[in-house]
Amino acid sequence: MLLFAPFRLPTPFAALMPTPETTTVLLTAAQIQSRVQEMAAEIRRDYGPTDELHLVAVLKGAFMFLSDLARAMTGPVSLDFIAVSSYAKGTTSSGEVRLLKDLDAGLQGRHVIIIEDIVDTGLTLAYLQEILRARDPQSLRTACLLSKPSRRQIDVHVDYVGFSIEDRFVVGYGLDLGEQYRNLREIVALG
Ligand code: IMP
Ligand code: MG
Repeated sequence: MLLFAPFRLPTPFAALMPTPETTTVLLTAAQIQSRVQEMAAEIRRDYGPTDELHLVAVLKGAFMFLSDLARAMTGPVSLDFIAVSSYAKGTTSSGEVRLLKDLDAGLQGRHVIIIEDIVDTGLTLAYLQEILRARDPQSLRTACLLSKPSRRQIDVHVDYVGFSIEDRFVVGYGLDLGEQYRNLREIVALG
């Protein structure tokens, strides 16, 4: 199956332009869907059936995970969005985290769950946990669809992990390379 129609990626991504020979489907749409359903059930079991869960999704990568997870979740759920930038360009971490868009509402007394696409070095998540914990939520947990444990630079706690993967750059299901491929239903490894 040809996953990618040929098109021109902006430099410096041109050298990384995926071709069918250099891409591997790591997780199919069906595998992702079934794991996300499991995660939603697992998360709800850890709280009371009537507890309101405040899902804080990290833009933009977590948008698809949030959308499926929230729909799979029973009981009361509310949503908010935060945006940070950690990767300045391409596939390497700048090691710097900047807050680009803050939450709309406060977190005091709420059961907050950070919804993240992937934990790589852990720097983004460590920063987010620190700033959100300071807002006095009743509880704070983290759900990540993907984790690359071998890349960790900081010991950050993740309560719910969808899949642990090896150190390969992945796109699809919300994850991008230069803003491309977020719309893929599957998760694809490049190179
Ligand atoms: P960390 O701060 O190094 O843990 O990086 C986390 C962020 O980097 C994630 O939220 C993603 O936006 C991005 N990222 C890390 N690994 C990948 C990848 O393999 N594909 C796409 N984005 C990634
Ligand atoms: Mg992200």
